[in-house]
Amino acid sequence: MRRSPLFFTLFLLIILTISCSRSETYKQPIAYNHKLHVEEADLGCLDCHKGVLTHRKATIPNIDVCIECHEEAMTESKEEEKLVNYISENRQIPWVQVHRVPDHAYFSHRRHVSLGKLGCQECHGNVAGMSLPFSRPAVKIDMEWCLRCHKKNGVDRDCATCHR
Ligand code: HEC
Ligand code: HEC
Ligand code: HEC
Ligand code: HEC
Ligand code: HEC
Repeated sequence: MRRSPLFFTLFLLIILTISCSRSETYKQPIAYNHKLHVEEADLGCLDCHKGVLTHRKATIPNIDVCIECHEEAMTESKEEEKLVNYISENRQIPWVQVHRVPDHAYFSHRRHVSLGKLGCQECHGNVAGMSLPFSRPAVKIDMEWCLRCHKKNGVDRDCATCHR
């Protein structure tokens, strides 16, 4: 049976629609492993994400933090080799930030973690169990998501709370 060009066009359109409707994914420069560091190196979230309790930004750690243990390789891992190179060349690791809110909305970690006493897991999932780096946000970060939790907790939902 000979399939018409129309068939292929439709097929292509369906594939395109499916791939566009999936959320964007990101690739990290080093296959960082959270599980390994929490379990084997006995590190807590705050040891690396140093801004969480006091600033808007949690901050993603870079070579100044990794150098404490990785100035020289301690494994055969190719990923660690990349890290040791960044450190020896004094170059920043170009991590891609995957959770983000646009500039017109105000979000602060200090407010939610220090004052709101929310755990990282509430918004970022089971990070301590992740052996691969983030390629997409743990949850879809949109206004609806913020509002749902504010409603549940009886927190302000005036527009100016978040759009300042
Ligand atoms: C307090 C010490 C410590 C710090 C700080 C630290 N690591 Fe590690 N790292 C370890 C230990 C322990 C291992 C596991 C070694 C083993 O398996 O024998 C490891 C292993 C690794 C590996 C190789 C294993 C793998 O998953 O391929 C990579 C890559 C790595 N770390 C990246 C990082 C990065 C990136 C940073 C900075 C953001 C960092 N580490 C900070 C202790 C540390
Ligand atoms: C109430 C929800 C919420 C909680 C709780 C929360 N986060 Fe976040 N996190 C976010 C949002 C929203 C963003 C995007 C913020 C932005 O664009 O500035 C984000 C971004 C981040 C980032 C990347 C950008 C940055 O701020 O450096 C890191 C790292 C991070 N969070 C770590 C943590 C850690 C570690 C904890 C627990 C100590 C935590 N978060 C708790 C919602 C949360
Ligand atoms: C998991 C629940 C949760 C999520 C999700 C959440 N919040 Fe909140 N938010 C809280 C709680 C609880 C407080 C109150 C903290 C306190 O005690 O001061 C708060 C407080 C705030 C405040 C300060 C409110 C005030 O009265 O000044 C702002 C601004 C804010 N959140 C913005 C955001 C934005 C923007 C998002 C989405 C990107 C978001 N929040 C998502 C729980 C949440
Ligand atoms: C050794 C340092 C280290 C420790 C400890 C650590 N992280 Fe991270 N974290 C990183 C690095 C490096 C990245 C960037 C690579 C990636 O996405 O996995 C990252 C990324 C993240 C992100 C995504 C930021 C973004 O791009 O939006 C979140 C959320 C996060 N970590 C939460 C946590 C939580 C929760 C814990 C504790 C259970 C934790 N981290 C412990 C180093 C660390
Ligand atoms: C709890 C925080 C919060 C409150 C309260 C809030 N917003 Fe938002 N709003 C956000 C966040 C976060 C975004 C960005 C969402 C995204 O990137 O998808 C946003 C996005 C928007 C946008 C842009 C829409 C878009 O598709 O990008 C508009 C317009 C908006 N908000 C209007 C309002 C109005 C009007 C109110 C009051 C009725 C309000 N917001 C209350 C957090 C909030």
